[in-house]
Amino acid sequence: MKNRYKPNRKPLVLLFLIGFLFMSCKDSTESFNRERISINEGWKFMKYDSPEIADSLFYDLRPEVLTVNDSKAADTPATEAEKLQASKKALKPYILPTANAFIKDPSKHHTRPEGHPGTDFPLLQSNFDDNGWENVTLPHDWAIAGPFQEGPNTEVGGGMGRLPSNGIAWYRRQIDIYKTDKDKIIYLDIDGAMSYAMVWLNGHLVGGWPYGYNSFRLDLTPHINFEGINQLAIRLDNPNHSARWYPGGGLYRNVWLTKTSKVHVAHWGTTVTTSKVSKASARIGLKVQVENRSGFDTEIETITKIYTINHGTVGKQMAVMEKVTTKIQAGNTATINTTTTLENPKLWGPLPTQTPHLYRAITHISHNGVDIDTYTTDFGIRDIKFDPNQGIMVNNELIKLQGVNEHHDLGALGAAFNVSAAARKLRILKDMGVNAIRMAHNPPAPELLELTDKMGFLVIDEVFDSWKRKKTPHDFHLIFPDWYEADARAMVRRDKNHPSIVIWSYGNEVGEQYTDVEGATIGKTLSAIIKDEDPTRPTTSAMNWAKSDMPFASAMHVISLNYQGEGIRQDPIFDTVTDRIKTKPQYGPFHEKFPNKVILSSETASAASSRGVYLFPVSDMTSSPIRDGMGGDSNIKQVSAYELYAVDFGSSADKVFASLDKHPYSAGEFVWTGFDYLGEPTPYYESRNSYNGIIDLAGFPKDRYYLYQSRWRPDLPMVHILPHWNWPDRIGKTTPVHVFTSGDEVELFLNGISLGRKKKEAFTYRLRWDDVIYQPGELKAVAYKKGSFWSQTTVKTTGEPAQIAALADRNEIYADGKDLSFITIQLTDTDGLIVPTADNTIVFEVEGPGEIIATDNGDPTDMTEFPSTQRKAFNGLALVVVRSIAGKTGKITVTMESDGLKASQIELTAIQKKP
Ligand code: GAL
Repeated sequence: MKNRYKPNRKPLVLLFLIGFLFMSCKDSTESFNRERISINEGWKFMKYDSPEIADSLFYDLRPEVLTVNDSKAADTPATEAEKLQASKKALKPYILPTANAFIKDPSKHHTRPEGHPGTDFPLLQSNFDDNGWENVTLPHDWAIAGPFQEGPNTEVGGGMGRLPSNGIAWYRRQIDIYKTDKDKIIYLDIDGAMSYAMVWLNGHLVGGWPYGYNSFRLDLTPHINFEGINQLAIRLDNPNHSARWYPGGGLYRNVWLTKTSKVHVAHWGTTVTTSKVSKASARIGLKVQVENRSGFDTEIETITKIYTINHGTVGKQMAVMEKVTTKIQAGNTATINTTTTLENPKLWGPLPTQTPHLYRAITHISHNGVDIDTYTTDFGIRDIKFDPNQGIMVNNELIKLQGVNEHHDLGALGAAFNVSAAARKLRILKDMGVNAIRMAHNPPAPELLELTDKMGFLVIDEVFDSWKRKKTPHDFHLIFPDWYEADARAMVRRDKNHPSIVIWSYGNEVGEQYTDVEGATIGKTLSAIIKDEDPTRPTTSAMNWAKSDMPFASAMHVISLNYQGEGIRQDPIFDTVTDRIKTKPQYGPFHEKFPNKVILSSETASAASSRGVYLFPVSDMTSSPIRDGMGGDSNIKQVSAYELYAVDFGSSADKVFASLDKHPYSAGEFVWTGFDYLGEPTPYYESRNSYNGIIDLAGFPKDRYYLYQSRWRPDLPMVHILPHWNWPDRIGKTTPVHVFTSGDEVELFLNGISLGRKKKEAFTYRLRWDDVIYQPGELKAVAYKKGSFWSQTTVKTTGEPAQIAALADRNEIYADGKDLSFITIQLTDTDGLIVPTADNTIVFEVEGPGEIIATDNGDPTDMTEFPSTQRKAFNGLALVVVRSIAGKTGKITVTMESDGLKASQIELTAIQKKP
């Protein structure tokens, strides 16, 4: 390949200097507000078939993985990192300077070595012929289309979801730069690249960011060709064995081009704080950092106006902050602090008892009366107090955490972020009564935090799953020493203005819990870094092993326990187990040792179940481990949905509730997990996704959903029966019936005959009729609260599947090429009852301005590729996801057919998005 780009540095530098002076002069006369341009469209993508044939532009060496233990239990202690001989050819020294803006001590800043690695490499050149490459639109996850890697000893195992997320790939795109941009600074903003991103522009290595979960910015300006083509080339190198879950691969979040004046608000450069918050008034503090890259000393004026936000649009102006004049020397950054008081502020608070009101601060920077930058910061006004004897007080109301942990994948859509998919997840969680989310175990897409702000969730934003010690051979421990400070600061700087975030977490079950003072020292360092960025919020790090008398816990402001609250492996079945964590309930010792710190359970349960699968016999315990014949079946690789079963170190929901109720000072819990996620399919590593979700991978509630709802929404009249009542092989056999209700008493009927009325005892959360003898017909549960009728439900034996019913979460979607409708398919009998065992294959077709992008059914063992338009139902249900086509409005018709069943159709409408 001919290399068109030949660096000739001297004339370039000269040209650049002349341009620089010219630009700086013009800066003062031309009004300009920053532009944030989405560059998600128009990428070319190529992934090497194997690392062996890839180029040699690698970030750093990685240890060879000789033994693989894909199905390692999650609580296996982390081990020490391997020492590697640094390679001279590695590009790491060129990438490390990208971290400098996030390293406080200037003496620790990295200096870029001489030279221009890769300059002659054909893929970096604008004339390189990439016509044969795939056309992709971001957010893009290169692995989610599969195929799944089935069977033993696959390259990617069950732990990482059996999908081809590993590998080395390039993304190429030209960016639109105009002659009129000459006076501007041009940044590339990448919200997330999985992983080891290295970015070249016009053959120059600009920088990069290895950690796949943080957002980062690169300054393209010095390498921009203002008169011609500008070729971006991004190399990603996603290692296998890098995670305990499915990481996805690629430019999986939004990518932007930001054009600013030379004097502009710095990256993530505004900080809003609120204090003295009451219904009558609130003090708003705003810190604005302004960068002067004009080459001259300058003087600017800063003024900020505060508006309400109503349904996402700017409402009334509420306050104008004092105008400030500031001198900034060439090359410096100035910090401008202003405050104002808002009368009768509308407070941000979690639903349903409060409302998540938001405000917008619009900051205008001007020079000699000419606008040079406008910067928007959304925020909320809320008062958060941490009461060690009760939990978290939001605006003086105690909000017990009814939380879930969530990984970043969106089920069948993979890691590629999509706002409508994330909003659907949050709606389903909200309906269950969830009011808090722990971002396990990394910072999420920025839009997810916008949603949690708008929808009123409390959030723990978490940065790391491992530090120096490794959990998997290629996880974050490889880059921790070089990047821990930058990654910790980047999370806080990006996310600090989100009112939903209440706690920062700097680790999850890290191996350093086991290293006494050494580990505690790293913890202290990380906590201090976060506190330095944001003194207003507490820090924590989740502990599944460290105890109250160990130094590890002392660095954190909030105590986060994983599974230790209710105790770990206390059942006699574990008596002979000696090499795993065994812990008596730990709320007491931690509360005693840290009477001034709030305690919460950052992970509870890790219960497991497969939606709609019921296995016999049913345990008579409240909480049971999973074994064959005891809630599990390794032949079919499913776990019983009687919802009594948990991983060895976990507990059923019921056991967790009892423990929380016996320790009322606990701030609450984050269940592991809300939704099933790709990877970590404990206990059956042949599968593709986890069994831990309260909701399956397709978004369909398992029975546990109603158990949580009964506790978390006590005012919602509801009652739920399990199992289904289609058991032709169980006639005359004992078939336990369990009932969840927000009432306190239930009478159960089988075919009109009462099986007795039962009341919830103290510390019990379900009503059980364990000796019901199965006969087909109808189960009916009538629930009472305080003696009065509360709610009722029935479960009936159904006929054979006869027809297909379809139900869209949204019948109207925006014609923007991104919006989605999630259509639930139900296989029903002639009476319209869902057949709970139906597994017929459905074939989907779409007509009109929409496309089917994925199908699923929530079955962890289903290895049909997600984009397939044919999908077997799993226990009566399937899912089809339809996406609009940009700019095309009109009727979208989705047809569902299945052999022997009546075909069915559903109509959606794609409408124009309001500007
Ligand atoms: C925890 C861990 C989670 C997940 C979970 C599965 O120990 O923190 O990331 O692995 O176990 O049960």
